[in-house]
Amino acid sequence: MSIDKKLSRLERELDALRKKIKGVEDLKVASEVFDRATLLTLYELTNKGYFDVMQGVIKTGKESNVFLARDREGNPLAIKIHRVATSDFKAMTKYIEGDPRFPRMRRNRRGIVYTWVRKEFKNLERAHLAGVRVPKPIAFRNNVLVMEFIGEDGVAAPMLKSVTLSRPEDFFRDLLANVKKLYCRANLVHADLSEYNILVKDGLPVIIDLSSGVVKEHPHAQEFFARDVANLVRYFRRYFSVDYDEVYNYITSCGDDYGVSEDSQG
Ligand SMILES: Nc1ncnc2c1ncn2[C@@H]1O[C@H](COP(=O)(O)OP(=O)(O)OP(=O)(O)O)[C@@H](O)[C@H]1O
Ligand SMILES: [Mg+2]
Repeated sequence: MSIDKKLSRLERELDALRKKIKGVEDLKVASEVFDRATLLTLYELTNKGYFDVMQGVIKTGKESNVFLARDREGNPLAIKIHRVATSDFKAMTKYIEGDPRFPRMRRNRRGIVYTWVRKEFKNLERAHLAGVRVPKPIAFRNNVLVMEFIGEDGVAAPMLKSVTLSRPEDFFRDLLANVKKLYCRANLVHADLSEYNILVKDGLPVIIDLSSGVVKEHPHAQEFFARDVANLVRYFRRYFSVDYDEVYNYITSCGDDYGVSEDSQG
C-alpha cells in the first residue's frame, strides 16, 4: 500500500474511533487524544508493522486511552495512548526521578510523558522476563504503547474490582506469587497496585498499568511498596482475614529461587 493510502486509511480509522469516544467534551477529547504528533506516532508504528488496524475503544480516561487493535494476522492488541495535554506531569515526576534508569529526562511536559510511557514498556519487559503475568509488551514510541491484549473475542478482561471471585484464596495466592516475582526477580515495585490494575482472565490475575513502577533502589520504593501491600490486604479482607506482616514478609523473603534480580540498568 502506498504511504498516502496508508495515511488516509489510518485517518479514516481514527475518525471512526473519534466518534466512538463518548463524553461531553467529545471533540475536545478526541483532538487531545489524536493530536497531530500522536497521529504521526501511530502512523510510524503501523508502518513498522507493529499493528495493522485500530478497532475500538477499551477505556477512555483523563490521562490515557486504551484501544483494541489488530496485527496483520488479525490477532488482538491493546494500544495505550497517553494524553500529553491533560497528564499530571508533576505527579509523574515523583515516580521517575530517583529511578537510575532515567537519569536525564527532558523536564518539559512532553518529555515527562514520553519517559512515563518508556518506563511502562521497560517495566513490562522486566516483569515479563521474570515470569510475572503481565501483558507482553510489543512496542512503544513517544506517548504510545503497544502490548498484548488481555481478554477474549475483542472483549477486555474485567478488573478485579468488578469481579466476584469464586476461589479467592487461590486467586490471592497466585497474585502474591506474581507480586513476589515482580519484587524479587524483576527488582520492581508496582507502586499503583490495587483492584483497579489487576485484570481477571480465566480466573487468574494479570497485573497491568506498570507505568508508576520503580526499581527497588528508588528513594520512595519502600513507601510505594508498603502502600501496594496495604491495598491488597485491604481488598482481600472482604473475602477472608489477611495479615499485613505475613503478606509483606512473604513477598520480600526472596531467597535463592528468586535471587536472580537484574541490575538496575535497562
Ligand atoms: N493489555 C490490556 N488488555 C486489555 N485491556 C487493557 C489492557 N491494558 C489496559 N486495559 C484496560 O484499560 C484500562 C486502563 O488501563 P491502565 O490501567 O493501564 O491505564 P490508566 O489507569 O489510565 O493508567 P494511568 O493512570 O497510568 O494512565 C484498564 O483498567 C483495562 O480495563
Ligand atoms: Mg490503571
